[in-house]
Amino acid sequence: MSLLEKINVIVSVCFAEAGYPNHGQVTESKRPDLCQFQSNDSFVIAKEEKINPKIVCERVIEILERNPHLKNVTFAPPGFINIDVTDEFLLDSLSEMMASKTLGIKQIGVGQSIIMDYGGPNVAKPLHVGHVRSVVIGEAMKRIARTSGYDVIGDIHLGDWGLPIGLVILELQTRNPEWACFSDDFEETNHLTIEVYPEDLYEIYPYASAKSKEDDQYLKDARLITARLQEGHQGYRFLWKKIISASKQDIKKDYDKLDVEFDYWYGESDADVYIPQLMEILKQKDLIRESEGALVVDILTDEDKSPMPPVIVEKSDGSSIYATTDLATIIQRERDFTPDKYWYVVDKRQGLHFEQVFRVARKANLVSEDTDFNFLGFGTMNGPDGKPFKTRDGGVMSLSSLLQLVQDKSFKTLALTQKNPSELDALKIGTAAIKFGDLINHPSLDYVFDIEKFLSFEGKTGSYILYNNVRILAILEKMNVNKQLVVSEIVNQYDRNLILRLLKNPEVFNTAVTQQSPNVVAESTYQISVAFAKFYAENNIAKEKDRNRQASWLGLMQATTKILTFNLDKLGIQTVEKM
Ligand code: ARG
Repeated sequence: MSLLEKINVIVSVCFAEAGYPNHGQVTESKRPDLCQFQSNDSFVIAKEEKINPKIVCERVIEILERNPHLKNVTFAPPGFINIDVTDEFLLDSLSEMMASKTLGIKQIGVGQSIIMDYGGPNVAKPLHVGHVRSVVIGEAMKRIARTSGYDVIGDIHLGDWGLPIGLVILELQTRNPEWACFSDDFEETNHLTIEVYPEDLYEIYPYASAKSKEDDQYLKDARLITARLQEGHQGYRFLWKKIISASKQDIKKDYDKLDVEFDYWYGESDADVYIPQLMEILKQKDLIRESEGALVVDILTDEDKSPMPPVIVEKSDGSSIYATTDLATIIQRERDFTPDKYWYVVDKRQGLHFEQVFRVARKANLVSEDTDFNFLGFGTMNGPDGKPFKTRDGGVMSLSSLLQLVQDKSFKTLALTQKNPSELDALKIGTAAIKFGDLINHPSLDYVFDIEKFLSFEGKTGSYILYNNVRILAILEKMNVNKQLVVSEIVNQYDRNLILRLLKNPEVFNTAVTQQSPNVVAESTYQISVAFAKFYAENNIAKEKDRNRQASWLGLMQATTKILTFNLDKLGIQTVEKM
């Protein structure tokens, strides 16, 4: 049980004893300068019983005061009860939490699975900075959900099946008409020498995309190639596989740097085989109607206040679209995983698309009634001008250049104090800056990408937290601490506050999952660092004469670095030993 839960039990038992069963809820204090916890239930009771809340408080306080774990129980007009817990209770709770395998996190997700759809990069298009949010938030949510016991499956849902591929193939064909894969009697085994390189793709895709906007015939050709690829044209399939593999390798390089890992690298193409089945189900359930040559599903309900257009599942030319792919993917996922929950970490501008997909999936009973669909729509990463982040010359910055940029910047900072700084550490610090700068905001909000601010050692930054952790590691090493020390006393408000902060941590992980808000974990991690910095500034640990006291403080630092490292890892951030 978390500290808050324990106190809730204690206090509600006291309320019951005072004659008020089913009452006695306690929250963290709104005024931490006055008390640690508070109960506001006297107001509710007073209303029910038509008496003054003060009278309720007096009755309950008398009993609360007798409890050995509580202290400073006081009445705060007009009807609040302020409560502290004893230092012994805090120490016991801390040691219990640190000894627990889950670091005190309640296993609210045991027996439930989540399929997490995140990343979603499009093959053949270079990853740009805008793609960073889905992987950063998705990876963090995946790890955070796992700490609560959920079985989480991460699937990248690669965009590998649409027009962009057709455009790239068309342009490759224009430039290399002699390639055997373009002939209709192509057979794979004889032509293994054709190679495609990511660098070429990154030049080809923007070129072909721009051309298709000016040249109608070119666009039509690309559409035709896309359709033939999807129908199974041997040569196009062959080339497509080459493009995918080149692009995947390149995407993996960036994702490795960001320490992002997927359980499955399925793509939109993997859903293709389920489309006939999807169409069959929709037809059987009589959900499809024809509209201007296309097949659509109506999803508007009487309750809808805003427009809810029908979903096109097959275009007039017989080709399928984004919604069809997502629906077919649900069939695939039901077959392979039958997850309890679906979480999609995608740009919030795709909200309508997902609402449409969820509605069709429900109408067609693709999932069971209690399956949960969740769209975690994230906001935009903006530049200082408040518009989507661009490079200085107005271009789109590739993710790999951004990673290089932050790595170089951190390397320079490290070089100010270290002789041979590590490139790997510089990368870790740089990615910590990017990730924390993102995760400290609620996912749905837009934020301003400001690399100087994110790398600063002050404020709510990844660097600030990493740096405080480094200070802990440095002193533990300097003091030659190599075994686990027990936190045996609370000396002053600084260690008490740090302990209270640590004890709040488990709760935060459950909140982050139930509200899909990794920012609360980021915030808690920051608050722990702040409490530590204060504790460290106010207590002279290295010079402390009292051995027991010193050992206890060092034990508290061990606990702090353990929790910080744990939290950072769940945010997808790696720690460093020197900074
Ligand atoms: N590839 C898509 C895009 O770039 C994102 C995919 C999101 N996931 C999904 N299941 N549709 O917009």
